Amino acid sequence: MVTILILATTNRNKVKEFQEMLKGFPIQIRSLTDFGSLPEAVEDGETFDENAYKKALHTAKILGFPAIADDSGLIVEALNGTPGVYSARYAGERATDKENVDKLLHDMQGEKNRKAAFQCVLSIAVPSGPALTYEGSCEGILLEKPRGTSGFGYDPIFYHEGLGKTFAEASMEEKNTVSHRGKALAEFKAEFPQVLKWLNQRLQEVKPPKPDHSEFEHNDWSH
Ligand code: IMP
Repeated sequence: MVTILILATTNRNKVKEFQEMLKGFPIQIRSLTDFGSLPEAVEDGETFDENAYKKALHTAKILGFPAIADDSGLIVEALNGTPGVYSARYAGERATDKENVDKLLHDMQGEKNRKAAFQCVLSIAVPSGPALTYEGSCEGILLEKPRGTSGFGYDPIFYHEGLGKTFAEASMEEKNTVSHRGKALAEFKAEFPQVLKWLNQRLQEVKPPKPDHSEFEHNDWSH
């Protein structure tokens, strides 16, 4: 049996990454872009876990298939864990990556403790509600000036000691081996046969009961 899994994103790079990763498994990956415009999930949770689950469940419910979503952000120790779930809109609702980086550098001016960590949560939800969760995190040091041009978000100021460079100076392959998202995805992939079993069990549970033909003999249940 081929299971359909909806990736709750319109980001084509993420879709490609998932398709590549789950090659060979009896699964069909679809993304929100395959279904036209749909109401968006409200990301008003206070944790990455809550937001990832909200996005996954919202998508699973409206489309009627299991869905996977991720939520991630940057935790800065000296700023009591901010920007956290507000990472994408740290400098305002529609802030650009550069505006967010500039605000963070400004808020960290003169600060000696420059420890930070990226966190990522993946949530796989079925339409009836249950979900599985995978997490990954990655520690680094915030520089005082941006370095490098690849990647996105806070990559130019996030220095990874193991790589000896910022995420914006690293190739995508290098970043994926140590990053929060790479780790969460690797864990998910390693457990994928069990995930598939879990999904199929949850989907069986909600199938409608078999009709009693003695009572419903005039109904056609074959569709
Ligand atoms: P999302 O909700 O997972 O798309 O990410 C929220 C925000 O966290 C992004 O807009 C970035 O500002 C930041 N972020 C998450 N992951 C990364 C990363 O790998 N590099 C840089 N910034 C990131």
